[in-house]
Amino acid sequence: MNILEALQALQRDGIAALEEIRGSGQLPLWYRTYLGRKGRLTQLLRGLGDLSAGERPLAGKRANEVKAALEDAFQARQEHIKAAELEVALSSEQVDVTLPGRPIAPGHLHLVTRTLRRLREIFAEMGFQVYEAPEVETDENNFELLNIPAYHPARDMWDTFWISDEVVLRTHTSPGQIRCMRESHPHPIRVILPGKCYRYEQVTPRSEHQFFQVEGLAVGHNIRLTDLIGTMREFAGKMYGEGRKMRIRGSYFPFTEPSIEVDMDCILCRSEGCRVCKYTGWLEIAGAGMVHPVVLRNGGYDPEEWSGFAFGMGVERPAMLQHGIEDIRYFYGNDLRFLRQF
Ligand code: DAH
Repeated sequence: MNILEALQALQRDGIAALEEIRGSGQLPLWYRTYLGRKGRLTQLLRGLGDLSAGERPLAGKRANEVKAALEDAFQARQEHIKAAELEVALSSEQVDVTLPGRPIAPGHLHLVTRTLRRLREIFAEMGFQVYEAPEVETDENNFELLNIPAYHPARDMWDTFWISDEVVLRTHTSPGQIRCMRESHPHPIRVILPGKCYRYEQVTPRSEHQFFQVEGLAVGHNIRLTDLIGTMREFAGKMYGEGRKMRIRGSYFPFTEPSIEVDMDCILCRSEGCRVCKYTGWLEIAGAGMVHPVVLRNGGYDPEEWSGFAFGMGVERPAMLQHGIEDIRYFYGNDLRFLRQF
């Protein structure tokens, strides 16, 4: 029997065998026998190599046709059998429609959302409104107008995702200050600006390339550094418990002058010294300062007449401290085993 006849026989046998099948349980065996990796078709195909160059194309073509015919017949038979089985099941089995359904877990707010809501609440009590600004920003708002020109080394403080030469994913919530000032002039301002920020950073247990910040901005007449410090003290007490100790350190940000960093006594060890506070007894809670005259002017406020303070704080980091979460990546991993705990 030459290979063409063998192929013909294979197709005939296969289709005849399919017709014999009565239940879907027998389908896999048929498939293995005829079309499987060690099946009859595969074995015949091995013989192709022994053919002369003249015979090979025709045999190859026939082999493909047989394969397609068997695949099609198998699909059709499978559908037919499954439909028949379903029919039988539907008419013979009983469905108890009075059984209770499986309960669907209602879910709850993400830890970050809850932390953000708490922050909003605390600042609302102090008279701060919420100002929402976009996550995609111009280079101008994110840097230039915040007193960070292109040549300035301070740009190295933020690793940036660039969308185009002039558009970035905001690296901090501070550009919202400019938008808010331009919209609010000539009225005084007291807002927080919560939202997501992005940095082109290696993702590690301590840093994500996406994270939340809450920015604060107050602009008015005779606003002083002590107003900022009082606001931070009030915030720390409400967020982390009354009687917090606070420490102010001089710092540098291009958009504030003077700039400070606000530390709070470590909530985990009560300032005794632990791994989280790196044995200093202090945790950093915010960068802040008096709004730089250049930034006020860029926002449309005359620094001779107006003054203001601003601050910026992270959201995930304090939540991590409070709940003893050791890896920031959990926040965005969507693992229910993590999310359910909070
Ligand atoms: N934008 C700063 C950052 O992401 C945080 C910050 C510091 C915001 C001082 C402020 C500020 O408004 O006054 O690192």
